[in-house]
Amino acid sequence: MVTDRLKQETLPLHQQLEKWMVQEIKSMQSIDQYINLLQSFYGFYQPLESNMLPMVEEVVPDLAERRKSTLLQQDIDTLQPVKTSIPLCTQLPAITNTAAALGAMYVFEGSTLGGAIIAKMVKGKIAGLPDNTLQFFKGYGTQTMEKWERFKQYTNGFIASDEQSTALINGANDTFSLFYQWLKNNQTDTTNE
Ligand code: HEM
Repeated sequence: MVTDRLKQETLPLHQQLEKWMVQEIKSMQSIDQYINLLQSFYGFYQPLESNMLPMVEEVVPDLAERRKSTLLQQDIDTLQPVKTSIPLCTQLPAITNTAAALGAMYVFEGSTLGGAIIAKMVKGKIAGLPDNTLQFFKGYGTQTMEKWERFKQYTNGFIASDEQSTALINGANDTFSLFYQWLKNNQTDTTNE
């Protein structure tokens, strides 16, 4: 199954990002830092989703329910009713075909698996944070595993050649590494390296 290979070959970059996120949340002391984190996610997810989602329309039938930048925007707007402009990342992975787009989407869909853990960690750090400001990290809630299994089926059903497998894996690894660079450069108010 190509998604097993995908998991294996992206593991080091997942672990790097996970480690950074855990440190970041541990050092969180204010709602402003949480808003900052959401804005950094939005700055990467929004432009990449607008490049990548149209390219997977034929493969992912429940695409409309999977757009994550909308949830990020809602959480940010609830926390900060006066709109400010959010910087958008321009160093995005090159998404030139459907396989690469699925690789990028794998990273975003997979982020829902750790999302529940992240939501709990954030709530533990910021007392009184309302549940309706954690919509992005709560993701699909009780449907998370079902949505994840379905996404993997779509991907396995589409990828048919070695070239496509390579594009899929490179798309996912590029997404992990550019997202990590973006987050690190944006969160300058902590001691993380
Ligand atoms: C505190 C931060 C995070 C934690 C604790 C965490 C934890 C987890 C856990 C528990 C899983 C499920 C592993 C399994 O069932 O085998 C997972 C999978 C995954 N996570 Fe994370 N994660 C974090 C952050 C992220 C972020 C920020 C992203 C991407 C933006 C991400 C992408 C993925 C992907 C793609 C998978 C799927 C791996 C597979 O193919 O099964 N994670 N994560």
